[in-house]
Amino acid sequence: MAECAKVGTVSVRIEPLGEVVFPRPGEPLMRAAQRAGLHWPTLCNGASLCGACHVRVVAASEPLAPPSARELQGLKLVPVYKQGPSVRLACQLVPKGEMTVERAGVARPDRRNDS
Ligand code: FES
Repeated sequence: MAECAKVGTVSVRIEPLGEVVFPRPGEPLMRAAQRAGLHWPTLCNGASLCGACHVRVVAASEPLAPPSARELQGLKLVPVYKQGPSVRLACQLVPKGEMTVERAGVARPDRRNDS
């Protein structure tokens, strides 16, 4: 059975890569992308300690939960020129419904260029 058929309506399109991932209930975006085999920029592997995983939410079919205190701490580490109300940490953001986010540096392993 295909992944999308198991998970239902929660989906996230990641631009500019153009990949769509299907988070499980309660699963943060970065984990869903990693489970799908994508490389996601991170230095702390989801501990909300680096800010490297940040995304800009372009569209969301459902209202997003406000950032938790933990996410707010990590958001302070995002470069100031990238900060804004639509910027979230992919390691903390739990998608609901359909979303589109932007994050350069997300890549399929075969196209990764960080060596
Ligand atoms: S992975 Fe480090 S803050 Fe999200």
